[in-house]
Amino acid sequence: MYYPDNLVEEVRARNDIVDVISSYVRLQKKGSNYFGLCPFHNEKSASFSVNQPKQMYHCFGCNKSGNVITFIMEYENYTFMEALQLLADRAGVTLPKIEYSKEAKERDNLKARILEAYKEAGKYYYYQLRSEAGQKAYEYFKDRGLSDETMNKFGLGFAVTGRNLMYRYLKSKGYDDNVLKEMHIFYVNEREGMTDMFWNRAIFPIMDVNHRIIGFGGRVMGKGEPKYLNSPETMVFDKGRNLYGLNIARTARKNNIIVCEGYMDVIALHQAGFNQAVGALGTALTSGHVNLLKRYTENVLLCYDNDEAGTKANLRAIPLLRGAGLSAKVIDMSPYKDPDEFIKNLGADEFENRIRNAENSFYYEVRMLEKEHDIKDPEGRTRFSNDVAMKLLRFEDSIERDNYLEAICARYHINTDSMNKLLGRLAAKGEGIPEYERPKSGMYSKNREPDEGRKKTQKLLLTWLSDEPAIYQLLRKYLSPDDFTEELYRKAAELLFDQIEQDDVNPARIISCFTNEEEQSEAGTLFNTELPKFNTKQEREKALKDILIKVKTYSFDKKRENSDPTDINMLNSVIENKKMLEELRNLKIELSE
Ligand code: UTP
Ligand code: MN
Repeated sequence: MYYPDNLVEEVRARNDIVDVISSYVRLQKKGSNYFGLCPFHNEKSASFSVNQPKQMYHCFGCNKSGNVITFIMEYENYTFMEALQLLADRAGVTLPKIEYSKEAKERDNLKARILEAYKEAGKYYYYQLRSEAGQKAYEYFKDRGLSDETMNKFGLGFAVTGRNLMYRYLKSKGYDDNVLKEMHIFYVNEREGMTDMFWNRAIFPIMDVNHRIIGFGGRVMGKGEPKYLNSPETMVFDKGRNLYGLNIARTARKNNIIVCEGYMDVIALHQAGFNQAVGALGTALTSGHVNLLKRYTENVLLCYDNDEAGTKANLRAIPLLRGAGLSAKVIDMSPYKDPDEFIKNLGADEFENRIRNAENSFYYEVRMLEKEHDIKDPEGRTRFSNDVAMKLLRFEDSIERDNYLEAICARYHINTDSMNKLLGRLAAKGEGIPEYERPKSGMYSKNREPDEGRKKTQKLLLTWLSDEPAIYQLLRKYLSPDDFTEELYRKAAELLFDQIEQDDVNPARIISCFTNEEEQSEAGTLFNTELPKFNTKQEREKALKDILIKVKTYSFDKKRENSDPTDINMLNSVIENKKMLEELRNLKIELSE
């Protein structure tokens, strides 16, 4: 952050959140909170709440939350600095001129130059496609059914055959080798110097959500290997956080986003009117992609190729999407291979039908399971029921789980009582860890996907402590910020515990301690999870104890995972940890009424 914390805090504190949000959203006081229609997603009943004492907002519909600064960032689509400026102006605070560090300035300059150079390169390819030299590529696109309008919309282009035409062009425009090298669209060769990566290929510029070109894909026209050549990740291109076509899809104003595989799939869908389509460009969907999608929609329709790889991609994507609270459905494209072919053969209306009939992701998963077993055979059928039970256990919400249980049992003629009993037996054995949490090797393997269940428990504890700081006194003996397994949570816990010790609880201030938008938004959710409703004091006490034990268990698991197995101290600490958990299980927590 470029401004000192106390200045940021002053700006934040001088802008009351209810005042500020009231000028954007009509709020009504209900109990101790204010409610209104959420400005971040479409809704008919008010689930957007503003909490004046906490100086925070939270939407129970789309789960967005934060403080007054993040509100302005989200609403106005501002950077942190821009939002701070607006609020400073509003409150009459003068911000000092920013002093960038030399490195930060240089890095920013280099990034800006790279983006300019990509834009220039994009224009060059664009122009070539529409020149005589590009006739062949133009025909190629036309043959694939693209209109001029579509070609323009996606900025399609053509790379002429030539050793270093692009290189020389950009040089002539004044770009230095250090900028051009960072673009990674040239091969660097000792003898020949820099040569162009794309020769005689149809060009698809890749843009970020702000329509800035950050890379290119080039397709051979006809046969040849590789079919697509893609520019690699760079300072400005993170493949796990970009989706092809999202720059257009984000403003499509449909209530879903379609995720498909290829460049041509996205383009064909847009041309057919489905401008909410995006492409993962042959890579598996990552949690970065999921977070990105979550900013723009609640409903994701998977439309990967209709083949084995596509099925695998679906089965990987579903738990990720579900873990992030998004609804996922799968579009059936049979008998065609991909949306491009589908649209060409059956047209947009039929695709619209397929969207309407997209399969609930849970049914899809179960149907794929069914293929692995012979469910006519009693033994196969038993194994199938077991697998289904394991899947059912992953629903954290019991109502949702029951609904699926009934539906699936009816569909496959399984006795619901037996299934319920099976679930009970499996749960008692400790089965049913959500699959995005399930270790690949060990509990904390490096490549693990985000583990929503574990995070949720830790969030519950942080929210609870920020709501009722007095409870901290009961837990402080057992709990430290290091018990939180995520770095961001750990930092937030440290700040919160400090505030509690100083009797100055202020979650909104904690959010501004994080600098980037994603972290702020995530920090916001830490203090705004929905606590379960408890009927009795005993229930509350039991729930608190359970949460504490869970958090400690995760913490111990993580420490064990990260320690050296040959270390003799390790065994000692395992025993200590066991003892502590035992102690916690016997702990009597007494809450006041
Ligand atoms: P596909 O092979 O399904 O290609 O790869 P496609 O989209 O149907 O392409 P067309 O219709 O033949 O032109 C899907 C995606 O995987 C990536 C590309 O992003 C492609 O769009 N891919 C594929 C590559 O990056 N390189 C390749 O060689 C092949
Ligand atoms: Mn295709």
